[in-house]
Amino acid sequence: MPELKILKTTVDIGLGHEVKVLHVTDSHIALDDEGDERGRFKYFSNAEEYFHQTCAYAKENGLTMLNTGDLLDAHTESNFAFADKYLLSTDTIYAAGNHDFCHFVGKAKEDYAYKWERIKYSAPHLPNNLYFYSRVIDGVNFVTLDDSYYLMTEGQIELLRAEAARGYPIVLGLHIPLFTRAQADQILANGNKCAFLMGAPREYTDKYPSDRDRQQSPDEVTLRAIEYINSEPQIKAIVTGHTHINFEEKLPGGAIQITTAGGYHGYAREITLV
Ligand SMILES: [Fe+2]
Ligand SMILES: [Fe+2]
Repeated sequence: MPELKILKTTVDIGLGHEVKVLHVTDSHIALDDEGDERGRFKYFSNAEEYFHQTCAYAKENGLTMLNTGDLLDAHTESNFAFADKYLLSTDTIYAAGNHDFCHFVGKAKEDYAYKWERIKYSAPHLPNNLYFYSRVIDGVNFVTLDDSYYLMTEGQIELLRAEAARGYPIVLGLHIPLFTRAQADQILANGNKCAFLMGAPREYTDKYPSDRDRQQSPDEVTLRAIEYINSEPQIKAIVTGHTHINFEEKLPGGAIQITTAGGYHGYAREITLV
């Protein structure tokens, strides 16, 4: 029986009391439909069991789950049924991952048009607005927004500014972490040909394979969004997934960026804000 690995991280945001959430990300539930064998289950064969254990831990400890995406490896009816039964019955704040918009892994050009076509299939099975969402828990504003294709939009920046204006400290849940040299160098040292981070500079993307360069090079709006996030004092922590590694680091503006490894691999993280 696989056993859950619960990491524990405390972030001091000057709150004066404790607020806890359970971070889980990248579960990659990969259930095939009958007669539709996609061959991905072999990579994520313990994903369901780990997800059940994570939900049970959240319920036993009265924790809201902050899920930063890729719950679904791809769009199958079996995966949607799993999300309906187990995700929607657990108190969850959700940030979309690239796989949550993916019909067949590796078979489509994942661009803006594709996302807005596929979102209609997955959104009914996920718990909140995927473009942008906010929920205040005991004085902490948990905000999620979709950055799953390495881009953010003008509209998301404005919504984020409006959330900051409410005055609560913000924990921002993103699928893709913001680029830092520390995390990029770790991912590249692990043998990857690109860093899978948002806002990578040319110095890095020039060395990526050309399809990854196109996919992961930021546009001007995204760079502005990152600049805003780094300069907004209300944003205290950024909680992310996608790279499937555990990483904690300080961003240039002083906020902490926390990345948690794949739920399919048994990781979850209890985050305590104080
Ligand atoms: Fe993932
Ligand atoms: Fe991802």
